[in-house]
Amino acid sequence: MSIAFFDSGIGGLTVLREAVRQLPNEDFIFFADTLHVPYGPKTKQQVTDYVCEAAQRILGESVEALVIACNTATSVAAAELRQTYDVPVIGMEPAVKPAVEMNGASGRRVLVLATELTLSQAKYMELVSRVDDHGIVDSLPMPELVDHCERLNFDPEELSAYFRGEFAKFDLNEYGTVVLGCTHYPYYTQLLEQILPAHIRVIDGSVGTVRRLAGILNERGLTGEGSGKVRFMNSADDPAYNEKLRRAWDILNGRGT
Ligand code: SIN
Repeated sequence: MSIAFFDSGIGGLTVLREAVRQLPNEDFIFFADTLHVPYGPKTKQQVTDYVCEAAQRILGESVEALVIACNTATSVAAAELRQTYDVPVIGMEPAVKPAVEMNGASGRRVLVLATELTLSQAKYMELVSRVDDHGIVDSLPMPELVDHCERLNFDPEELSAYFRGEFAKFDLNEYGTVVLGCTHYPYYTQLLEQILPAHIRVIDGSVGTVRRLAGILNERGLTGEGSGKVRFMNSADDPAYNEKLRRAWDILNGRGT
């Protein structure tokens, strides 16, 4: 049995990396919906249909849990998947709560970066209104970043110029934390840490998601008998995209450029 991770493209590998770290005795399937990436600019109905189609295919494999390693897909379709399938479905949540807790005492603000679709969903708005008592959370959609990432564009000069342009609208001295609310964005954590003022922390939701996964496996007595093996699949059955997933996986694990 494997644990399945699902994303529109290569972004969810950033969550899978954390899973391999926390759960070294599991084996994993990573499924990318390469036919429909990116999800961010699509409608809620389109993304829901894509996610349901992908889930049906993934759950045809021998799978003990499904992680939706995509904030956009979680926002629009996690509830429907949980109603439809018996297998545990674990989703992403932008790390707004820990960010607000970190900044409470300093009075600094929180900036959440995510796709337009994630930021426009009731799920995100409810999260912010639940945890942000003092109105310190702002948000910034960064659709181009998913495209850069899918092209494996990590050119520091080009990306730094892009980030500086986006952040020009904000007085960064007012901010204490930047939350990466899209699983593609952590490919740029190091670069962001270099270009943001030193007092700003950059966090994402992968640690929390994998902790929830580990808790669920534990509750169900599902102890891993694997060895951290990862099998790549994609909705187009395209070997070239699986090769790209392998390359992105190596980059994330410090084995390539
Ligand atoms: C995208 O496909 O546009 C990004 C998905 C995400 O929110 O992680």
